Amino acid sequence: MAADRYTHGHHSSVVAQHASRTVENCANFLIPHLQEDFALLDVGCGPGSITRGFAKYVKSVTGVDNSESVIAQAQKALGETGSEGIEFQTASVYDLPFQDATFDVVYAHQVLQHLSEPVAALREMRRVCKAGGLIGVKDAIYSTMRGSPALPGIDKWRDVYMATARQNKAEPEAGLFLKRWLREAELKDVDYTTSTVTYSSANEVARKNWAESWAERTIHSFGTQALEYGIAKEPELQEVASAWKQWAADPESVFLFVNGECYIRGDCVTSIVLKAGNVEGEAENELGYFAGSATNQSGRRSHLAAPDCLALQEVIHEALRQTQITGLDVDAVESCADGKILDDSLEATAFARAYRPQGTLNVDDTAPLGIISAKSGVGNQLEAAGLSQILKVILGSRAAAFHPTPHLRIVNPHIDIEMCERNAILAGESLDFRLPSTYTGSSLSR
Ligand SMILES: C[S@@+](CC[C@H](N)C(=O)[O-])C[C@H]1O[C@@H](n2cnc3c(N)ncnc32)[C@H](O)[C@@H]1O
Repeated sequence: MAADRYTHGHHSSVVAQHASRTVENCANFLIPHLQEDFALLDVGCGPGSITRGFAKYVKSVTGVDNSESVIAQAQKALGETGSEGIEFQTASVYDLPFQDATFDVVYAHQVLQHLSEPVAALREMRRVCKAGGLIGVKDAIYSTMRGSPALPGIDKWRDVYMATARQNKAEPEAGLFLKRWLREAELKDVDYTTSTVTYSSANEVARKNWAESWAERTIHSFGTQALEYGIAKEPELQEVASAWKQWAADPESVFLFVNGECYIRGDCVTSIVLKAGNVEGEAENELGYFAGSATNQSGRRSHLAAPDCLALQEVIHEALRQTQITGLDVDAVESCADGKILDDSLEATAFARAYRPQGTLNVDDTAPLGIISAKSGVGNQLEAAGLSQILKVILGSRAAAFHPTPHLRIVNPHIDIEMCERNAILAGESLDFRLPSTYTGSSLSR
């Protein structure tokens, strides 16, 4: 994995400024989503003041950073404030030492902007996030960093910093790219917004700390890299440092910048349209095809407490659109059916509506949709359940018969029977199919 060069470095002027950050001013947008029983991971946690702050809102907090020295400082600060439910360890965001689906929330504050491979980092964050969990990211947009009085030295500071970061293959405009990177990491339906940071006399301590930190950092942190890369010369760095001091000395000075911030649910609902293989002209060992698939991570299907019928219908429509067939061409659908009264009834209704929409041409001449499920046999073991669903559908499709839902004794009374009786069968018995090549669907939630 990438061995990135961290543009700020861990000079005391950098770490001290980071240590003044709080959850309330750096992760405000996440706070309403936190719950007492959550386990939260803060990646690239630095000296850990934000990490420690999260402990007020959730049960356990883990901070990781790839710098041993900064983790040692985070641990030391923990000694001063108490450590219940908080731990720090050295680890890279590219290779997190945690099992899949360990955390309810995974957060990265001002970290992606320093990475040469932000998408790889997001994939790793996604891996350790639980189904239904939350991934949050926030990064600055350096070109928006502006102040008054407008000093040429501060314009130079911005240019030198951005050029140095880019020389390190990092992106100082990261806040503009979060949505794109998340999509490339296969995290869709991102809730993106921006927030501003303002330094003014309203908070004298923060205003001075910001300016003094940058004056020092220009000489001792990114400035040394700028010299090494030939991006700036010594007198230019002195000019930048003096500009920051001049700015700090002016009580009417202001400085602001914009951050991009967003969160996404780690859950998703997926619809796959499958077609049996081994028909004429195809290789003998081909079982079947993924004819189309769609995923939604808006969080609207999320959570056991609030499944969303429309979100499921949307992904089914998208998968059908890709396959270039209509819902009426699908004979049966393997459902997620996790045995919960509300989830299962909404899923059945969504299937009936998406595959046999009332009022569409030929719907009355089409056989009702078979709704089947392997789940009572295999349980809800995420990938295992998904794979068994797909194999069951493909094999059933090749045999032109579907195995019924095992153990189906009584139908969930909350399922919209009127809708389903007309349009769908909840299969407690074997179902015959029209053709072995008929399309079938599979709906997976995680
Ligand atoms: C700008 S600081 C942000 C620190 C903290 N999140 C905050 O906002 O105060 C970026 C942090 O990311 C860490 N970092 C950089 N590359 C990393 C990587 N590959 N894995 C983990 N941490 C990394 C740096 O050591 C640094 O502490």
